[in-house]
Amino acid sequence: MLRAFVKCVNGVDPGIRIIGFRDGFDGILKKQFVHLDLPSVRGLLPRGGTILGTSSRDNPFAYPVRLGERWTAVDRSAEVRRNFEELGLDCLVAIGGDGTLKIARDLGMPLVGVPKTIDNDLSGTDITFGFRTAVQTAANALDQLHTTAESHHRVFLLEVMGRYAGFIALAAGLAGGADFILIPEIPYRLESVLEVIRDREKTGRFFSIGVVAEGARPVKGHFSVAWTDRATGQLRLGGAADRLARQLKGRIEHEVRTLVLGHLQRGGSPCADDRILATSFGAEAARAALEGDYGKMVGVVHGEIVRVPIDEAVSKSKCVDPNGPLCRTARGIGIGLGD
Ligand code: F6P
Repeated sequence: MLRAFVKCVNGVDPGIRIIGFRDGFDGILKKQFVHLDLPSVRGLLPRGGTILGTSSRDNPFAYPVRLGERWTAVDRSAEVRRNFEELGLDCLVAIGGDGTLKIARDLGMPLVGVPKTIDNDLSGTDITFGFRTAVQTAANALDQLHTTAESHHRVFLLEVMGRYAGFIALAAGLAGGADFILIPEIPYRLESVLEVIRDREKTGRFFSIGVVAEGARPVKGHFSVAWTDRATGQLRLGGAADRLARQLKGRIEHEVRTLVLGHLQRGGSPCADDRILATSFGAEAARAALEGDYGKMVGVVHGEIVRVPIDEAVSKSKCVDPNGPLCRTARGIGIGLGD
């Protein structure tokens, strides 16, 4: 994305200064940035993550400050606006998920948004970059789990990320041949999961593999929270697969094992589709910035690269439609969705 943005702007006017703030909004607060010129973005295409660094604790509207053992939050948004002005910048290009883009929108500076999250939970775009690479990693993990599941007659539960959306779980489960997929959008019934495992046994398949989104929860149950960030109060989901394993144990003969894929799905080299998507977004963000078309997020809708009002993008999270095409496909081929 950075590479395409810089190349595109440079191609139009090499005199335009582009800076990249270190660690997100923290970099604007601390005026820590690097100059982004052509040499600085060389070789970025196959690299994941970001050379700029990022932070999930840098909300300038509720900036965490430690007071001894306690944390408190202070509003430092005015400092961000002041620094932005002092640096003489025309526009801010914010790259991230709904949290980042919402903060950027609320800061009120001329803004171009770029959707980047593995969760794919942003409205206004059919897809975000990072998502497909995460899905590929999870699908690879499922392929690898098959060996032990099958030979040892086990039930394996693979927990994947995605926060409150089940896009990664659903896509990876389809690509990796899961027997059941549990997503936050469809609270699951334990009986329904047991049914899948038992039905497979009846047809001579003495193993099962389930994908469990970190946000999966039983009917009338809560999200499984691993911990709460004391500085920001943000919940970190985790433990959904272990919870299901505990629920299954004693009710089936199989040994039940879990694997939490964790940050493996957020790293590594991006897949070809993500590279193309990030490049397209970078180039479109550059065009929007050069045209002064602010207040927009770039996205892809029905295969077209578009710009949508940022308000539309952050107004509500996108989630899996339980009756949408992928869920229908899953049900159609006998994958259990827990309902
Ligand atoms: O939003 C991306 C994401 O990877 C989620 O899928 C996951 O819940 C969360 O971030 C994990 O965040 P952290 O690495 O800060 O614990």
